[in-house]
Amino acid sequence: MGENMFSYTDIHCHILPGVDDGARDLAESIAMLKLAYRENIHKIILTPHQKPDRKCVSVSGIHKRIELLSEELSRFPVDIRLYPGGELLYSHELTGQLEEGILPTLAGSRYALVEFLPDENWSYIRDGLYHLSGNGYWPIVAHVERYAQVAAKPERVQELIDMGCRIQVNAGSLTGDWGFGLKRIAARLIRDRLVHFVATDAHRGSGRRSPQMEKCALWLKKKAGDEYAWELLHENAEAIFANEEI
Ligand SMILES: [Fe+2]
Repeated sequence: MGENMFSYTDIHCHILPGVDDGARDLAESIAMLKLAYRENIHKIILTPHQKPDRKCVSVSGIHKRIELLSEELSRFPVDIRLYPGGELLYSHELTGQLEEGILPTLAGSRYALVEFLPDENWSYIRDGLYHLSGNGYWPIVAHVERYAQVAAKPERVQELIDMGCRIQVNAGSLTGDWGFGLKRIAARLIRDRLVHFVATDAHRGSGRRSPQMEKCALWLKKKAGDEYAWELLHENAEAIFANEEI
């Protein structure tokens, strides 16, 4: 267990400007980063949407934009380290595209942040993650609380963990900002210790889609204890940067 006060790492957010439905321009990105810093977030993996049926920012484009964003950020007293990543909408081509380097993992590690449509079939989710995991990647399932077929049977999360997945839930789901249904399932997963990461999934500079963590961190420390909160908000992310298995 670390120090009582620790900084947070956000492994899932849409702060990179002008590449998806997140930050619309550089000014909004900077506003989001300033807010994130006030929320005690000191490291951020930028995870723009990667969807197979759309034209998406390339891996080199992500790196280039992070360089520009870091340069702009250095003009402000905001000490946040930025890392490249992506939120990958699952398709059968995903594994091959990761191998070819067309799609980004998280911070160059074997961890890949993967999402599905909210009403996706359970067998499609399970088989897809099994395939990815069988090919040497460590899938992190994005906002698992949102999938109807997982929420209906939360024990399915253990099945995903058993096949090599790590689990992410959104901070806003835990604080109740997205309604009681999502809070109930997310809080249950925390209670059962089935979560590895809590992230903001921030898209905007204000409101419930902004990068807020402190309210959730307080809730986690109270409900789950300092040690588990530290793993969820800080320590497990260090394993991504070190490319080590959690
Ligand atoms: Fe997202």
